[in-house]
Amino acid sequence: MDAREYWQDAGFIKLEGVTKRFPVGDGSFTALNSVSVGLARGEFVSVMGRSGSGKSTLLNMLAAIDRPTEGAVIVDGRTVHLMNEEQAAAWRGTTVGMVFQFFQLLPTLTILENVMLPMEFARRFRGTRAKRAGELLARMGIDRHAGKLPSALSGGEQQRAAIARALANDPPLILADEPTGNLDTHTANAVLGLFRELSREGRTVVMVTHEKNAVEGIHRTITLSDGVVVS
Ligand SMILES: Nc1ncnc2c1ncn2[C@@H]1O[C@H](COP(=O)(O)OP(=O)(O)OP(=O)(O)O)[C@@H](O)[C@H]1O
Ligand SMILES: [Mg+2]
Repeated sequence: MDAREYWQDAGFIKLEGVTKRFPVGDGSFTALNSVSVGLARGEFVSVMGRSGSGKSTLLNMLAAIDRPTEGAVIVDGRTVHLMNEEQAAAWRGTTVGMVFQFFQLLPTLTILENVMLPMEFARRFRGTRAKRAGELLARMGIDRHAGKLPSALSGGEQQRAAIARALANDPPLILADEPTGNLDTHTANAVLGLFRELSREGRTVVMVTHEKNAVEGIHRTITLSDGVVVS
């Protein structure tokens, strides 16, 4: 790495004084309070904190699903907090892969079609979409389920399909909100191993988790309490 690459790497993601308030009744509720955090490429970070501490709100800021009331979110030099819905959707489609606790696969599409969908939205990999989707499913070890509907798969298999879908457009950033919350320990460990691999490839992985035990391969844990980073 030369000096310039290093600088870019160290500042891949920057949250600067991010505050998020939601209107509640006559007043407002502060879900995030002056959060400043920097993340490097390839970092595997867990986000912890009790229910309501602001974990999902933080991911929504990183994914530009929602915008901060104050502060800046900068990803790879892009000022994400200033994007309108349309810009954010286009940016998110190629930059962010998201994985959720309840998988959120589309129930009427096959597993292969679910993985191809983000490539269609982003107009990427035209002509090789099916091939690429098949390869991602093979990597996740579930290519034999490509033609099935999500309901025919186990929870762990559905989560693997969701990870394949998150990787569809080869994003540098993976955001996962309690991805193992609905899986048994053995399956959860396998899924965590996949995230570890993705970070080794140079993707930044931010994972909300309630895991009490230290997760192998995690570089850093961000702990939130009432919207404030406490460690
Ligand atoms: N759209 C909204 N309007 C009002 N309040 C909200 C909104 N979204 C979140 N909040 C509040 O902000 C706080 C943080 O919510 P958030 O979903 O980020 O918590 P969390 O740490 O992800 O919790 P959990 O572990 O239960 O998922 C909560 O008190 C929640 O009620
Ligand atoms: Mg949450």
